[in-house]
Amino acid sequence: MDILEKTYTAHSEHYDKDRQDHSEIQESWFDQNTADSWRHRRMYEVVDILAPWHHGKWFTIGDGRFGLDSQVLRRKGVSKAVPSDISETLLKEACRRGLIESYRVENAEKLSLENESFDVAFGKECFHHFPRPFIALYEMLRVARKAVVMIEPVDKKQPWTARAKEALKRRLLINPLSRKVINALSKGRLAKRGLRRGEYFVAGGYESPGCHVYKISISEFTKVALSLDLPIIAFKRFNDFYLKGGELAPASWKSKAYRKIRLTILWRDLLGKLGLKDPNVVSMILFKETPGEEILDSLSRRGWSIYHLSRNPYHA
Ligand SMILES: C[S@@+](CC[C@H](N)C(=O)[O-])C[C@H]1O[C@@H](n2cnc3c(N)ncnc32)[C@H](O)[C@@H]1O
Repeated sequence: MDILEKTYTAHSEHYDKDRQDHSEIQESWFDQNTADSWRHRRMYEVVDILAPWHHGKWFTIGDGRFGLDSQVLRRKGVSKAVPSDISETLLKEACRRGLIESYRVENAEKLSLENESFDVAFGKECFHHFPRPFIALYEMLRVARKAVVMIEPVDKKQPWTARAKEALKRRLLINPLSRKVINALSKGRLAKRGLRRGEYFVAGGYESPGCHVYKISISEFTKVALSLDLPIIAFKRFNDFYLKGGELAPASWKSKAYRKIRLTILWRDLLGKLGLKDPNVVSMILFKETPGEEILDSLSRRGWSIYHLSRNPYHA
């Protein structure tokens, strides 16, 4: 089985296994008073901003946790929100419980939907699960008429400490003696067969049920938008911190888990303000249709960056 099939199969089946082993975690996603749900609530600001488009049809991808994204959209006023995921397990269960009216089992990389059949395509914390994220991005852009919305981990600029470490490593690897020492000391961790001059070990960052945590690059997405002659992209970076166990901890300062989440985020915010660290998550809207003043004002009031993109002069 190749990596694509492996990844798709693992993601199609992961909720079944978790249902047997960790059903309490899955049920905790409904509880609005947990430390983890506090994290998630912060990520839906974009839905309020797009209020003038609530009357349209929205489609959520990677929404396999009982279609909870689509449920939030509905509660916030979106009149039609269809959830989808590569895994049917919890969507079916949500339907059985009467929490959602319908759903679609869809692989985000090959959506079985007509072009521009929804107004907004919405994906939260799912893009980094896809083995070919850019194909999913183009699929979302294909099926959306007005905009694609994403909330995802984002690339950070390398701080000077990381750049210095990299430069030092390079220097040490050029020297045959220190290279030998590094290879000996880092057995297996850096590279099993030993590093040669110019060779590096690049750490991927992986997540269960088996994906490399792909991080969005704002500049790459801007280039995608320019290539497709889109009018505007808007984004806002912010800090988040996932803590295992936060799902079962109350959102109260008395809870150690909650304190850890809040204080870590505050610390990261402070480092950001001092210019020492970039926020680790981004909310992004790729507009296919130029939004009205109400949306633009709301974006700017809430501190979003708005890029008006130059239009392709050859297709004017
Ligand atoms: C971390 S969960 C995010 C769930 C939800 N959007 C949220 O923010 O709580 C990632 C979701 O992506 C789904 N997924 C993974 N690969 C997928 C694919 N190729 N196509 C569609 N969904 C996929 C997983 O099944 C899972 O439901």
